[in-house]
This record gives sequence, structure tokens and C-alpha cells, in this order.
Amino acid sequence: MDNGSVGGLWSPLVRTEYLIILRHCLKTTKPLGESMVGSIVLFGPPGAGKGTQAGRIVELTSKPQVSTGDMLRAAVKSGSPMGLAAKEYMDAGLLVPDDVIIGLIQERLQEDDAGQGVLFDGFPRTIPQAESLEQIATVSSVISIEVPDDAIVDRIVGRRMDPETGEIFHVQFKPAPPEIEDRLIQRPDDTEETVRSRLEAYHNQTAPLADWYSDRGLLIRIDGNASINQVGVSVERAISRIL
Ligand code: AP5
Repeated sequence: MDNGSVGGLWSPLVRTEYLIILRHCLKTTKPLGESMVGSIVLFGPPGAGKGTQAGRIVELTSKPQVSTGDMLRAAVKSGSPMGLAAKEYMDAGLLVPDDVIIGLIQERLQEDDAGQGVLFDGFPRTIPQAESLEQIATVSSVISIEVPDDAIVDRIVGRRMDPETGEIFHVQFKPAPPEIEDRLIQRPDDTEETVRSRLEAYHNQTAPLADWYSDRGLLIRIDGNASINQVGVSVERAISRIL
């Protein structure tokens, strides 16, 4: 069963009041370490806005972001044998094999900051990954950012990244300040050709997970086909229901 839809627009005044109340509650209730909230999964197609929205969730929950995409890109950059093998899958827009990903996650969850749960970004992406995760961590909620394929292609092809801060920009939807424009980079897999393969992998291997989590009563659907700020408001509303 779904937890329901969390779309919709709020007036700036209502939103401001809501954020003040939410932050007050977060400060005055018991620390999250003592709460029953486990890990949160940020779910959605490539380019849905998971990385863009992750910062808000980290801020609200104090859970560390665990992005398998970022971990794999770090492995590629390090030139490790695993990174070099993963690069071939990533450049082709294919999913990296489950055993590699599950190994990375098992290792990451051993770190001290993961003890009270984490924010998974881009993991799990297959049912075997979700089944493995069930064995090693408690997932409290899955926030699914839903965006149609047509919008995805524009978002991916126009994405730019600041290598110094990791901040994500978009040539049209979130332009970078002119003073840092020269240093922005484009991910090698952010081409129109590769995004089609990534979408195919998403629909075949990852999208079925939405029903899998919905059957467990964990899925919260968000309309991601709106402005970055509007999606952010929906994300904050979802988080307020989880905490
Ligand atoms: P990964 O890095 O996880 O890529 P992804 O899931 O394809 O997601 P993206 O990072 O592309 O998108 P996003 O949802 O974070 O969107 P963003 O916020 O940047 O994985 C890369 C590869 O690694 C995979 O293809 C696979 O090979 C491998 N991999 C990773 N995890 C794996 C796993 N678990 N199993 C197997 N293989 C794995 O936003 C995109 C753009 O849109 C930005 O420019 C942003 O500014 C803009 N934008 C965001 N929101 C909005 C909005 N509301 N309106 C307009 N523009 C917006």
C-alpha cells in the first residue's frame, strides 16, 4: 500500500511557517539517534533530482548521504581495478553488477556515521539489491521522485557539476554563477545516447522496486515534474511524515 502522494504547491507564507515549525520540532524532540527512524531511500529515474534534493534531507535528518553513483565515480577516479571495471558499465549506461554494489554498501555501513541509518541515493536499484539491504539495514521509508522520460533527457544533457564543491547545476534550470562557469564539468555518461540506455535499465531493472516497496507500505510518491523548489517542498513534507 502506498503512503500516498506528496505533491502540490504551498504559498511562500505557509511554507515558511511550516519550515519554522518543522525545524523547531526537530530541535525540541529527542535526538534522531534515539528515534526509531532507520535508513531512508531516495528513489527515482536517472536525473530525477535525487542528488539535488539529497542535501535538504541530510539537513533535516542529519543522516549521511550514501550515493552509489558518487562512490563508483570515486573508484573510477582512483583507478582501482573495481573502478575501471565499473566504468565500462557506467559509460554504457548499464547497471554495475549487484555483487559489486552490495559489497560497497556493506563496507560503507560499517563506518561510524552509519549507525543511526543513512540516506541512500541511487541504491537499491534492483530487487536483489533491495533483498540484500533488508538483511543488513532497516529501511523506514522510500521517497520516490517521479519524472517522465521526456523531462529526464533535458535534465541529464544540461547537467553540469562543480568539481570543487560537488554542487549540481543545469544550463537552463539552475545556471551556475558566471564566476565558476569555466570550471564546471559534464559527466561522461550525461549524453543523449547514454541516457536512453540508463532509462531502459531503469524501467527494466529498477522501476519494479517501486511496487516492491509499495507492497511493504514504505513508498512515498512525489511529483518530481515541477521546479526544484516545488519538489523540495514536497520532499520536506514527506520528511515531516517520516520523522
Ligand atoms: P548515479 O550517479 O546514481 O546516476 P542516476 O541515478 O542515473 O542519477 P543521476 O545522478 O543521473 O540523477 P539525479 O536523480 O541525482 O539527478 P540530479 O539531482 O543530478 O549512477 C550513475 C551510474 O552508476 C549508473 O548509470 C550505473 O551504471 C551506476 N550505478 C549507480 N548506482 C548503482 C546501483 N545501485 N546499482 C548498479 N549500478 C549503479 O538532477 C539532474 C539534473 O536536473 C541537474 O542538472 C539538476 O540541476 C536538474 N534538476 C534537478 N531537479 C530539477 C527540477 N525539479 N526541475 C528542473 N531541473 C532539475
